[in-house]
Amino acid sequence: MLADRVKHIGESKTFTVQKRAKELAATGKYVIDFGLGEPDFPTADVIKEAGKRAIEQNKTRYTAAEGVIELRKALTEKLKREDGLIYTPEEIIVSNGAKHSLDNIMRILLDKGDKVLLPAPYWVSYIEQIKLAEGVPVIVHYDERITAELVRKNKDGIKAVILNYPNNPTGTTIAPEEVEEIAWLAVKHDFFVISDEVYKKFLYDEKKHISIARYAKDKTFVVDSVSKEFAMTGWRIGYVAGPREAVRAMANMQSHTTSNPSSVSQYAALEAMKENNQKHVQIMIQEYEKRRNLVQKALAECSFYLPEGTFFFFIKIPEGNSLEFCSQLLEQKYVATVPGEAFGADNYFRLSYCTSEDRLTEGIRRIKEFMG
Ligand SMILES: Cc1ncc(COP(=O)(O)O)c(C=O)c1O
Repeated sequence: MLADRVKHIGESKTFTVQKRAKELAATGKYVIDFGLGEPDFPTADVIKEAGKRAIEQNKTRYTAAEGVIELRKALTEKLKREDGLIYTPEEIIVSNGAKHSLDNIMRILLDKGDKVLLPAPYWVSYIEQIKLAEGVPVIVHYDERITAELVRKNKDGIKAVILNYPNNPTGTTIAPEEVEEIAWLAVKHDFFVISDEVYKKFLYDEKKHISIARYAKDKTFVVDSVSKEFAMTGWRIGYVAGPREAVRAMANMQSHTTSNPSSVSQYAALEAMKENNQKHVQIMIQEYEKRRNLVQKALAECSFYLPEGTFFFFIKIPEGNSLEFCSQLLEQKYVATVPGEAFGADNYFRLSYCTSEDRLTEGIRRIKEFMG
């Protein structure tokens, strides 16, 4: 019955551990969940109010498939203010979260067999999205972080490279001079950069984010969303800033697939774009930096990528494969994590610190006990 295209897509191993964690919690076990990939903060009240107002004002009808003009304009202003990027609303398309934005890009960019360079460890959905668009992922592993050298060595014959920085799952980012060099490679060798910047605000130690579009706008698709920055994962609003022709193709496609993202969510996101709302973001980031420091100290004897950003630690497992490790950690110590296999690194597991300091301390104590 099924098309070949979808036959290889199985349930994510991520969910296997999560499902079991829920079962154990239902039997009364004190399960500590480090599996989450979303802020544990609520959406700010002013943003929620804007969503409610949209409902009351009957902003509940279809909008333009590519999103309302007010939001696309506000996004151009935000990109200019924060990243020094100059876009027009015609170069912006709003979709149902960055995940949808990324899928749109793969579909309009890739022909059958087109290669996409995918540095590993990578975020779990890229690989399936590339394959669904009939592209071919070219997976190359990096050591500490993604570098220009890695891109230079593997650029031949690629149509695009995916850069995710700060990175899920490793938390590392790309140094500004490396960003510039990759941009130069993209222009010289004529490939596109799909720049997933959803964690750009989650940077610590006063590190700064530089979008690659600063140096290679015509070759870049900037992908971002309100999900992480504004703790709005469930509202489902993401966007792409990119070449006008590509944005038009995505808008046309979106008009036949999902139509507009939720009108109510778009108006809530419009409120989020106001500069004043960065204060909520800053409070959250300060809290995550504190937690990052706490976890780093608690894990001192372990081997891991030191997160420069995001809210993840990617930790090396002593031996065996990651699914077995995470399953046993859950069964024996009631701590839920995500197996590195999902991110293309089977000798690691991911710990998210989107939870309270008390739970972090207790959970890490259990992990260390388990690891011996
Ligand atoms: C690296 C990365 N990109 C994109 C997304 C998708 O975010 P959303 O679709 O909620 O905007 C996520 C979510 O976990 C992510 O970690």
